[in-house]
Amino acid sequence: MRRALIAGNWKMNGSREANRELLDGIKAGIGEVSGSDLAVCPPFVYIPEVAEQLAGTPVKWGAQNVSHESSGAFTGEVAPAMVREFGCVYVIIGHSERRTLYGETDEEVAKKFVAARAAGLTPIVCVGETLEEREQDVTEDVVGRQMDAVIAAEGAAALAGAVIAYEPVWAIGTGRTATPEQAQAVHAFIRQRVAAKDANVAEGLQILYGGSMKPENAAELMAKPDIDGGLIGGASLKADQFLAIAKAAN
Ligand code: G3P
Repeated sequence: MRRALIAGNWKMNGSREANRELLDGIKAGIGEVSGSDLAVCPPFVYIPEVAEQLAGTPVKWGAQNVSHESSGAFTGEVAPAMVREFGCVYVIIGHSERRTLYGETDEEVAKKFVAARAAGLTPIVCVGETLEEREQDVTEDVVGRQMDAVIAAEGAAALAGAVIAYEPVWAIGTGRTATPEQAQAVHAFIRQRVAAKDANVAEGLQILYGGSMKPENAAELMAKPDIDGGLIGGASLKADQFLAIAKAAN
């Protein structure tokens, strides 16, 4: 039985004050969450304060991106070991906003995956198709290609220390959620893709859904056999909504 993970991707949102309020709210309600693990991924600069505020709680934290390099002349970049030093457990890799707005390729995502694992981080690797790709009926080609790049990097066994997030691009921040059936179909496809290489790893792999997940739709999505939690954007910025999603996994 896979445990659910509810991870908040704050994206480029927050302030020191707003973060404190959000974390206070999460901490106040965490006692009612039993069936899932929780994590938040703030912007880099807030990680040290978030680490202090969450120390000693069951809530883990992570980064939204890292460099595949470990040090050197890479202005503006942050190395995996640096975020690990501040207690990050997770790092989001290959979010569609990174792929589309910052030109991250499958190859780059694979390199970041390797670097993150080498530093002791658990990568949350995002995959997903655009609306155009879904309409052209190439969702499995796209997600399969994105998965293969990561599997090829270090073999399927490396996914034992990773999480996958299926985020259909057309559902991100749009209020338009994939139906539980649409999401389940792609989640099952992802698990199958890994199972073809390593059945045990596939069985234990947490595959999260991301894309307008809210308290109102979380339970029916997570009721599907291959949906093991959520990567939450907008709704992770409100403590009550984030906790309600987590409780839906109980
Ligand atoms: O990584 C989370 C994500 O892209 C979904 O965002 O705002 O649709 O929940 P949102």
